[in-house]
Formats: sequence, structure tokens, C-alpha cells
Amino acid sequence: MKLGVLTGGGDCPGLNPAIRGVVMRALDYDDEVIGFKEGWAGILKEDTVPLKLEDVEEIIGKGGTILGSSRTNPYKKDKDTGKDRVAEVVAMFKKVGLDALIGIGGDDTLGVASRLYIQQGLPCVGVPKTMDNDLFCTDFTFGFDTSVTLAVDAVERLRDTAKSHKRAMVLEVMGRHAGWVALYTAIAGGADWVLLPEQNEGIEKELEEMAAHLQEAKKRGKRYAIIVVSEGVELPKGNKDEEELDEFGHMLLKERGIADAIAEFINDKTGWDTRTAVIGHMQRGGPPTLFDRMLGTRVGAKAVDLVHEKKFGQMAALVGNEIVGVDLKEAVGKQKVVTEDWIKFAKIFFK
Ligand code: F6P
Repeated sequence: MKLGVLTGGGDCPGLNPAIRGVVMRALDYDDEVIGFKEGWAGILKEDTVPLKLEDVEEIIGKGGTILGSSRTNPYKKDKDTGKDRVAEVVAMFKKVGLDALIGIGGDDTLGVASRLYIQQGLPCVGVPKTMDNDLFCTDFTFGFDTSVTLAVDAVERLRDTAKSHKRAMVLEVMGRHAGWVALYTAIAGGADWVLLPEQNEGIEKELEEMAAHLQEAKKRGKRYAIIVVSEGVELPKGNKDEEELDEFGHMLLKERGIADAIAEFINDKTGWDTRTAVIGHMQRGGPPTLFDRMLGTRVGAKAVDLVHEKKFGQMAALVGNEIVGVDLKEAVGKQKVVTEDWIKFAKIFFK
């Protein structure tokens, strides 16, 4: 068989292990694998690269993606030419002679793979990735463990300096629509509070609760505080309408600076000197952790098995400790967000 593979959306550690998983497993079937460069853009431009054993045998410990990535959405007409890019994808599929395509990505990239399968009848299979861990139908996505490991390390470092200077430190982490990264960072780092996009509706009340808690902690003699905030938190006075969107309609958030606003609020309410740290894209680089290497490898290899079982329209997912095929459409149909129970659990540790 001739298999195509691509990585789309924001990169994260674990993509290279997944590509390696695909290629290594494909060798067992005597398949030929070609990589498309930079996500769906690689199909539109026929920008391909052969993927052989020697291309992948040393990449398991490397961050990023050897294929490059982009947020190109073929279901959006080309903004310069107005051309229907889906028709181009279908034509390219035929031209290249693909028997199947393995899309590695989050809900956007896999949403395209799902539509190509359902609407255009193309044999697509998905591999879930995202450091946000917000994909449905899989217990975890690779990228998450590495990014939270880095964020927890940042908390530890911030604690040292916060304590020395009697400060409140606000750590802003990634997480646009789902606050899993912030939640796990706060719990595992032993932070004093966490703010998540899931709380946006009642954010004023949440901020007051946080302020009361920090005032109390200061009164009982605590020298410092660590607050973890997800970049997707919105304050009531935010100017959401003016923000730039990507091809999938997501806000880019690059001008938001939520950490500064939260730090100012904490300073007003508690009198604590405050500082901020935004680790942003640092969370998306570096060598994948053991967990992400294993998960990337397993889902990558499973995707090839799904192709050979003709289970198109499926995604290789982690369910319990098994890697199984799940329905791609269902997986991209809704987002896995932090539940009320998780928020209550986190608050047990804000003493
Ligand atoms: O897609 C995941 C994500 O890491 C989000 O948490 C973050 O908001 C976004 O990517 C940033 O993307 P970009 O690399 O386009 O700035």
C-alpha cells in the first residue's frame, strides 16, 4: 500500500515518535510511506518527502515534527484565488496514488480528515495529538505530559524566587479553550490557585474567591503565592472582537496578556508585589517525556493497523491502557473540557 502521513495544527512533543510509529509499523506490511510537508498545505502543494527507516530511526527523542506543520484548512476557500481547495486535495490524493492517509493532529486537523472521509470518501485515519489534551474519545493525547512537566518545573522555580521576595507569581500557560494544562500544573506544582477558560462565565466571582483565599493565606503568614492561569481566561473588559483568527476560526491570543491583568488584580486585592511568567511556546518544544514517546509510538503504529483493517474514519485512541480504534467523527464532534468535579478537586489543595 502507499500511505501518506501529515502533521497539522500546533506542534507538540510526541509528533516525531508518532511519525516513527507509522513508518516502523508500515515496514512490517511492506508499505511505502510518504510524508506531506506542513499539514494540509503539503497536499495542496504536492510537497512530499519519502519516509524510510533511516529517516525515522533517530527521531523518537526529538521535539517538533520532521514534516513541519501549519494550520491550513482545505475546507476554507483560498483567500487569494477563491479556489475550492477540497477538490484539490481529492485530485492530489489520486495523482499521488495514495491508498490511505494518516492525519496526525488535534480537532482541526482531524476534523478535516473526518470530513474528507465522510464527504469525499477518502480513506483517512487519525492520530490524536495536542498538548491541550482536549480531544474527545481518547484518555490522553501526546504533548500534554511533556508540556505539563515543563510547566510544573516552572512552578518550582517561581516558588523559589517568590518566597525570597515575598511575591505573588502568576504563571500563564497554554490552553485556549480547555484548561487541562493549567489544572494539572496547579495540582502537581502545588500552586495556590488556578484560573481556567471553563470558568469564563463566572470569572468575576472566581476572581473574588481567589482574592479572598490569597488574603487569608497572607494573613496566616504565607510569604508568597503561585497562581496558574490558562491563556484562554477572559476578563469581562477583554476586547475579544478585535482579535485575529486562524483558518479554523480560533483566536490567536498573541496580544492577550492575561497574566498581567491577573497580576494587577492580585496586587490591588492583596498588596502582594506581583510578577508574571508566560511560558507559551516553550511548552511545545523539547524532547518528549517517556509517556509521550510511548503514546506517540503506540498510536502511530496503531493507525497503520487500522488502515490494514480498512477501518477508515477511525482514530487510534488511548482508552484505559489499550490503544483502540474510535470513531473520528465522534472524537472531533466535541471538546473535552475540565469538569466541575476536577475544579472542586483542585480546590482541596488551595489551603
Ligand atoms: O493548539 C494548541 C495550542 O497550543 C493552544 O493552547 C495555543 O493557544 C495555540 O496552540 C497557539 O498556537 P500558535 O502556535 O499558532 O501560536
